Amino acid sequence: MSRKALIIGSLGQVGRELSSNLALKLGYENVLSTDVKSDPDYEGRFEILDCLDEPALRDLVQRESITEVYHLAALLSATAEQNIDFAWKLSVNGLFNVLNLAKDGLIEKIFWPSSIAVFGPNTPRHQTPQSTIIEPTTVYGIGKQAGEQWCNYYHKRFGVDVRSVRYPGLIGWKSLPGGGTTDYAVDIFYSALKGERFNCFLNEDTFLPMMHMEDAIRATLAIMEQDASNIKIRNSYNISAMSFSPKTLAEELRKHFPNFEIEYKPDFRQEIASSWPSSIDDAQARTDWGWKEQYGLSELVQNMIENLKLQVQA
Ligand code: SER
Repeated sequence: MSRKALIIGSLGQVGRELSSNLALKLGYENVLSTDVKSDPDYEGRFEILDCLDEPALRDLVQRESITEVYHLAALLSATAEQNIDFAWKLSVNGLFNVLNLAKDGLIEKIFWPSSIAVFGPNTPRHQTPQSTIIEPTTVYGIGKQAGEQWCNYYHKRFGVDVRSVRYPGLIGWKSLPGGGTTDYAVDIFYSALKGERFNCFLNEDTFLPMMHMEDAIRATLAIMEQDASNIKIRNSYNISAMSFSPKTLAEELRKHFPNFEIEYKPDFRQEIASSWPSSIDDAQARTDWGWKEQYGLSELVQNMIENLKLQVQA
């Protein structure tokens, strides 16, 4: 049977890049992108869908003979703190609606991202293991923790083929993040390219796990293409690529922009960042399904500058 993908949350940072990559792989006609709002400039098959509207979701999946769902809708960590009720409802009820589609035999496979935000201040901070203390202190993290447990439960109890990775902070030039704690690592490039001083909302020594968006998309496509027998973890896999702080990123940027200036004005997001790991042990993903990143810090910075230069100049 041919693959037909539905993406929920297509207008977000990951969704925008995933949909074009999936369209290349599966064919334009086999990828349906959805979001709660529309974008007149969106390229690709698109429908408005609220994943909390269960009948509408079910109807669309049946009408389009969808075989796999990429469920990306969420409020990121900083935004979720300002909107607790809705963030929880979206993260858990939205996931339930998707898991139940698979339980009822309407779809074959689900991708749902978890995050480094699932970890908390009591988790070992350096080289955080796959299985460890999970006591998140953010609304976003609590939603991801619950989601991971539900994925595992639906797999064990109902045989649902749900696959997940814990994304680190994601950095790409095709789409912007919104409302996350790791967003500074994208915003900083725009300031550097415009020759502006950057106001950083985290302390200079806040090390966090980060990844180029291309690597995150490759991980997503790879885990979905694996034979189910290789997917041994059904809550969510640690994946990692690099770890840096605002200071190390600024130093790397200065190799390209020697006059680049950064100022540190930590706000409420500092507490969120301080509760997360600084680096991640992803040995299990490497062993089980061959995960390997392509971008380190210097390649990431080079690639971002090359591509954003064209946008900022335009
Ligand atoms: N990038 C996310 C955030 O900062 C973490 O998964 O909220």
